[in-house]
Amino acid sequence: MSGHGTPIPMTSRKGEALKGAAHVPGDKSISHRSLILGALSVGETRIEGLLEGQDVLDTAAAMRAFGAEVTDHGAGRWSVHGVGVGGFAEPTDVIDCGNSGTGVRLIMGAAATSPITVTYTGDASLRSRPMGRVTDPLALFGARAHGRQGGRLPMTVVGAAEPVPVRYAVPVPSAQVKSAVLLAGLNAPGQTVVIEREATRDHTERMLAGFGAELAIEDGPEGRVITLTGRPELRPQDITVPRDPSSAAFPVCAALLAEGSDVLVPNIGLNPTRAGLFTTLVEMGADLSYENLREEGGEPMADLRARFSSDMQGIEVPPERAASMIDEYPVLSVVAAFAKGRTVMRGVRELRVKESDRIDAMAKGLRAAGIEVEEGPDWWIVHGRGHGDVPGGVTVESRLDHRIAMSFLVMGLATNAAMVVDDASPIATSFPIFEALMTGLGAGIARV
Ligand code: S3P
Repeated sequence: MSGHGTPIPMTSRKGEALKGAAHVPGDKSISHRSLILGALSVGETRIEGLLEGQDVLDTAAAMRAFGAEVTDHGAGRWSVHGVGVGGFAEPTDVIDCGNSGTGVRLIMGAAATSPITVTYTGDASLRSRPMGRVTDPLALFGARAHGRQGGRLPMTVVGAAEPVPVRYAVPVPSAQVKSAVLLAGLNAPGQTVVIEREATRDHTERMLAGFGAELAIEDGPEGRVITLTGRPELRPQDITVPRDPSSAAFPVCAALLAEGSDVLVPNIGLNPTRAGLFTTLVEMGADLSYENLREEGGEPMADLRARFSSDMQGIEVPPERAASMIDEYPVLSVVAAFAKGRTVMRGVRELRVKESDRIDAMAKGLRAAGIEVEEGPDWWIVHGRGHGDVPGGVTVESRLDHRIAMSFLVMGLATNAAMVVDDASPIATSFPIFEALMTGLGAGIARV
C-alpha cells in the first residue's frame, strides 16, 4: 500500500553469539512471478512457501483487481485461479504497488498488451523511481503511458488493443525490464525477442517455460537472446517457492560478524543468477559452506552454514558479478567494514535507483559509524577497519528501504557501540519475520 505507517526505530548491539537454524521466507522474485503467471493461466495454480511480505501481498491484491481469484489458505499456501493470457479485466481503481519496483514493473508489462487502461501508484520510494525503462519498450508493443515528469508514478498505461511483437535489447542490466517485455510479449502475436548483454536473474524465463510457454534462449555475440512465442495457453502449476538467498544474506552476514556464531540457513535457492554474494564472501575469507547441495524444481539448493570469521580481507568484486548480487551490496558493504583493507565495488550504477540510492544511503551511514567510503556514479570503495575496530554508536536513516534497515541492524551486532535505525518498518516488505528470526538466533536487536 502507498501509505507509510508509524516509523519503528530499532537498535542492535554486540552480545551473544548467534546460534541455530534460520528459516528465512520464500523468494520475493519467485513469489511475485508465481502470482502473476498464475493469474495469466487458465485454471488453478497452487503455491507453497509464498513470501507473505507487503510487496507480494500488494501483487496479490493487484491480480485480484485484474480478475484473478487469489486465495490465502494459511501457512504460506496460496492458490490463484487465473484468467488466461489476454484475459485481464480493467481494474476499477488505482493499482497500488506499495514499495515494490518488481511488482509494478512486472504487472505493467503483463497488462500492457490488453485493451485496458490502468493507473499505477506506490509509496514515496516507488514514486521516485524511473518507470521509463519499462514504458519505453512497452510503447513498441503499442501501449501508451502518461506519468509524471521523468516517467514517475502515478502513471496511467493505456494498453495496446492490437499489440505487435517486439525485438528489444535491454539497455540496463535489469531483470524487471526483461520480465516486463516478456510478460507483454505473451499477449502479442508472433515472436517477441529480448536481448540482454549481461545475464540477470532468469526466474521469468524458467517459470514461463514451466507454465508451458514456448521459449528459446541462445547465447550470441549480442548477449543472451530470448525468443518467446506469443499467445500461448499457460497451464497452471504447483509451485514450491525456494527460500530467498537475498534474505538469507542477513543472518549469514550477521553470523560472520558476531563473535562465536554458527548459523545454519536451510533450503536456500542458489540459482547462479542470484548467488554472487556467497562467492564473494568466500573470496573474502568467510567461513561459509554449502551443505546438502541438491536440485529441486530445476533450481540448485543448499543449506548454508556460516560461522564467525575474524579474519576477512577486502577484495575487488568483479563487475561482471554485479547482476547476480545486486540486492546484496548494502550488506556486503557492512561485512567489508569489518574486513581488512579495501573492498572495491564497480559496475553498480543500478544501486542508485533501487528502493533508495543505496550507495548514498550506505556511504552516509557507514561514514557516520567510523568507516571511510569513497564513491562515484557507478562504483564505491569501503575501507575496512578489521574485526573489533568499527566504532558505530550512531543513528542512521533507512529511507523506506528494507535492505538498508536490515544491513545497519546487522552492522550493530559487531560495532563497538550500538547502532540505531530510524525506521525499521520497511523490513516488512520483504522479510516480515526478520526481528523474530534474528532475536531467536540470539541477536541483540530490539525496538527502541
Ligand atoms: C528483481 C530484479 C532486480 C532486483 C529486485 C528484484 C526481480 O531489480 O533488484 O529486488 O525480481 O526481477 P532490477 O531488475 O531493477 O535490477
